[in-house]
Amino acid sequence: MKGCRAQEMRAALHTAFEAEIRDQMRALTAIVNKAPDARTFLDDVVAGLSQTPKRLPSKYFYDERGSRLFDEICTLEEYYLTRTELTIMQQFAEEIAEALGQGNMLVEYGSGSSLKTRILLDRLQCTVAYVPVDISGEHLEQTAGRLAKAYPHIEILPVCADFTTEFELPRSKCTPSQNLAYFPGSTIGNFKPKDARRLLQRIASVCGSGGGLLIGIDLQKAIQTIEAAYNDRNGVTMAFNRNLLHRINRELDADFRVDAFEHRAIYNEELGRVETYLISDRHQTVTVDGATFRFEVGEAICTEYSHKYTIDGFHAIAATAGFSLERAWSDDQELFAVLHFRLPAIRLNTHKQIDGSTRED
Ligand code: TRP
Repeated sequence: MKGCRAQEMRAALHTAFEAEIRDQMRALTAIVNKAPDARTFLDDVVAGLSQTPKRLPSKYFYDERGSRLFDEICTLEEYYLTRTELTIMQQFAEEIAEALGQGNMLVEYGSGSSLKTRILLDRLQCTVAYVPVDISGEHLEQTAGRLAKAYPHIEILPVCADFTTEFELPRSKCTPSQNLAYFPGSTIGNFKPKDARRLLQRIASVCGSGGGLLIGIDLQKAIQTIEAAYNDRNGVTMAFNRNLLHRINRELDADFRVDAFEHRAIYNEELGRVETYLISDRHQTVTVDGATFRFEVGEAICTEYSHKYTIDGFHAIAATAGFSLERAWSDDQELFAVLHFRLPAIRLNTHKQIDGSTRED
C-alpha cells in the first residue's frame, strides 16, 4: 500500500517534471538565432575605437550581466523612464487595447525582460502570437520560457537578432489580422534621428499594410531630471557602462583597465540628447586582438546617445516612414509618452477580373 502511494507520487512528479521540460524545450527550440557573431563584434569595436572621437556601439551592452544591470537601472529611483512608462501603460490599458485592435501578431523590438509586454498580453485578449526580438540570447530564452508558461494560449516565437538588421518574422500557426510592432523603453532614442528614420522604415516593412506601432519615447524636460537618470548615485549605470569594457576584454582578447575609465553622462540641450561616455583617467594604451589604441588623459569613448523628443518632433520623424499618429498617452508631469501609429491599409482599387466581374483585394 505504502509502496503504491510512493509509486503514484513518483509518477505524478515525473509527469510534472516532463511538462516543465517540455515547456522549456518549446521556448528553447523556437528561438531563431541571428545575433551578431564574434567577428562582427570585433570589427565593430575596432572600427569604433579607430574613429575620432572614439565610439563603441551600445548594442553590445546587453550580454547576460549587462541585461541584468539594465533591469536594475530600470528600478532606480532616478531612472524615471521605466516606472513612468509602466504607469502610462497601466493607467490607459483599456484605451490602448481598444486602439490596437484584435488578432495582432505582436513583435517587440528589444524585449529584454518583457515586463511591460505583460500588460499588453493581459489586456489584448486577441494577441494570437508574440515575437520577442532581442540581441541577448540567454535573456530571451528565460523570458520566452516564462511567457510560454504564463500565456499558454499565445504562440511565443522568440527571435534572437540585432533588430537593426534584416530578420525574418517567424510563421505563426494562426492567421494574425495585422502586425503590431511594440518598441517600448525609449530605445528608439538610442538612434540618431537619421538612423531612427531608417529603423522606422524597416519596422514599417515588417508591420506591412494596415500595421501598427506602439512606441515609448522619453520627452524633453529639465536638464537636472535627465542627467540624474543617467548618473545614479549607487553607480549602477557606471557598472552597466563599464561592463562593456569587461565584455570586450573577455570576448575579444583585450586588456582594458576597466577602473581607469570613468562613467559620465551629460545632456546636450542643443541636440536634445544624453551622451554617455567612458573617460580615460590617464594616458594609456589598450590592445584589442592585437590592435593598439592610445588614450590621452581625459579622452572619452562615447558609448550611447539617448535622444529626448517632443511628441510633434517624433511624429515628424515617424511620418517619414509612412506612419501616422493615431493617439498619444502621457503621464501627469509629461515626462514620457506612449504613441500609437498606424500605416495606411493598402487596398488595391477594385479591378476587373478576367471573367469581367469585380473583386476587392
Ligand atoms: N534605452 C535606455 C535609455 O536611453 C538605455 C540606457 C539607460 C542607457 N541608461 C543607460 C544606455 C546608461 C547607456 C548608459 O534610457
